[in-house]
Amino acid sequence: MRAIAVSEYGAEPAPMNLPRPEPGPGEVLVKVIAAGLNPVDWKVADGMLKDSVDAEFPLILGQDGAGVVEEVGADATRLRPGEPVYGTFSAVERGLGAFAEYAIARADGPIAGMPEGMIYTQAAAVPTAGAAALAMVDEARIDTGQTVLVVGATGGVGQGVVQLAALAGAKVIATAHDDMAGTMRRLGAAETVDYAHDDQSHGELNNEVLAVHSDGIDAVLDMVGDTSATESVAQLLRPGGTYVSAIWSVNPDSMEAKGLRGVNLERRASADVLDRLSDLIDAGDLRVQIEREVPLVDAPRALAENRTGGARGKTVIRV
Ligand SMILES: NC(=O)c1ccc[n+]([C@@H]2O[C@H](COP(=O)([O-])OP(=O)(O)OC[C@H]3O[C@@H](n4cnc5c(N)ncnc54)[C@H](OP(=O)(O)O)[C@@H]3O)[C@@H](O)[C@H]2O)c1
Repeated sequence: MRAIAVSEYGAEPAPMNLPRPEPGPGEVLVKVIAAGLNPVDWKVADGMLKDSVDAEFPLILGQDGAGVVEEVGADATRLRPGEPVYGTFSAVERGLGAFAEYAIARADGPIAGMPEGMIYTQAAAVPTAGAAALAMVDEARIDTGQTVLVVGATGGVGQGVVQLAALAGAKVIATAHDDMAGTMRRLGAAETVDYAHDDQSHGELNNEVLAVHSDGIDAVLDMVGDTSATESVAQLLRPGGTYVSAIWSVNPDSMEAKGLRGVNLERRASADVLDRLSDLIDAGDLRVQIEREVPLVDAPRALAENRTGGARGKTVIRV
């Protein structure tokens, strides 16, 4: 089958012809129709998991996908052949992922029947970014009327965070360059701050926020800041405020010492989370913006481009 894989950690992702996987007990084999691209895909290729998982190579990349159940293994009773499904498919220890014609998932894992009316390219864009956005907002425990800064608001996770935080009743300040300010407002942001002239210390960003909110804000939901940026942006928080990081940049002890709550995002997609996300999408409360669709053969280039930043929504790979 056609797949996009790396021959070792750090190697360039490349198209390869690899054997179709067989579903084991409790597993389903899915014929992938579309796969969603996430930063974690190139991070895995770089070796993000090398100290925690013994990977098999060639390692097929890709976490998110949508397609049709082709075969079910023994005891995999929850799903039936022919059923349209979406979810996460990465099995690094077996060299398997979603950027391939066929992918494997555990039937009791983060995979669900596709909601009626959802198309494959849309469904493939949902699992990782949608689950992260939902978890970020859950962790922030937002009360109606609170002011929340979303850093990295224009990306795949950020756009979901803006919508769900606004839905929870927050007054959302979204980071956005000029080209995305209108989109952020349409997604529910009350204000935008441009970080074009900001630096690593985030002095500019902090000044812009404080100019309007001189007594501080209630929460920061951050998809991009490293540890030092996080410490700096946390200065915007009122006593008792919350900082949630999608990239593990929070030192919870340091936050606690400042009278703040610091959380690093841990929750992943699950069948229940996918059901919550599809309800939100059905209700029109969560819109997933597809920035572009590319054929499987162009996935290596799309991964390289995502690494350089500038995402304005999700990239979907047509398999
Ligand atoms: N912990 C988890 O479970 C989990 C789950 C999902 C994602 N993540 C992580 O969360 C991060 C974001 O994921 P994603 O899918 O949203 O990525 P993405 O779609 O590539 O978007 C990243 C966005 O951040 C913006 N950005 C970059 N630097 C910025 C800055 N200094 N200030 C404000 N915005 C900035 C980018 O725009 P510009 O480049 O134009 O600035 C882009 O719009 C990734 O590192 C990902 O691995 C973690």
